[in-house]
Amino acid sequence: MAIFKQLFEDGGTSTMTYIIADADTREAVIIDPVLEQVDRDLKVIEELGLELKYIVETHVHADHVTGGSGLKKATGAEFVAGIGTGVSCSDLMLADGDTLTFGNEVLHAIATPGHTNGCMSYRWRDRLFTGDTILIEAAGRTDFQEGDAGALYDSIRKLMAYPDEYLVYPAHDYNDRRVSSVGQEKLRNPYVRAESREAFIRMMDELDLPRPKRIDVAVPANERCGEVA
Ligand SMILES: [Fe+2]
Repeated sequence: MAIFKQLFEDGGTSTMTYIIADADTREAVIIDPVLEQVDRDLKVIEELGLELKYIVETHVHADHVTGGSGLKKATGAEFVAGIGTGVSCSDLMLADGDTLTFGNEVLHAIATPGHTNGCMSYRWRDRLFTGDTILIEAAGRTDFQEGDAGALYDSIRKLMAYPDEYLVYPAHDYNDRRVSSVGQEKLRNPYVRAESREAFIRMMDELDLPRPKRIDVAVPANERCGEVA
């Protein structure tokens, strides 16, 4: 038996945070916590009687500061990021194929560079936590943080190779959606459906997006594992 919680931040970044736990041992992981929601997350952890073992980041976020520092201080959990992030304050830096064990459950790291060079997706059972690599009917931008549209195309294909029934849980949704599946994204996501690597790169090049409001604060803080200067 396992426990799964999806938490939504409605304070402007529409970030989805996930808590997964083994119901027997109560050991838990949290994926992509948000600084302003640390008290919320601690309350959930306490109410469910969980022991937080790992704080897991999908990438160095540009839109919000991770809640990792506060959660680590409160629980003693280890901070985990992908090796490609270069976030050296992490307790653990995962490479493609590495795993985290909590109780009888396993979280699998899947390197998915492109949105940023250090992006890591994760799989738990038949659920994919895709960060900003695949959003519901969208994909993460590639115009900053060493973004690379060609690499993102390859990473999206890597995730879309999982079975159609696997669920897709992204880091954000701005349109009141909460979950998708590999099969649904293959049908509806224009970035997944790009006809070639070149066409995908062109699609990303043509996006003209505003600079994230908090990037100058968020990225340096996240590179310090969430310590706000
Ligand atoms: Fe992002």
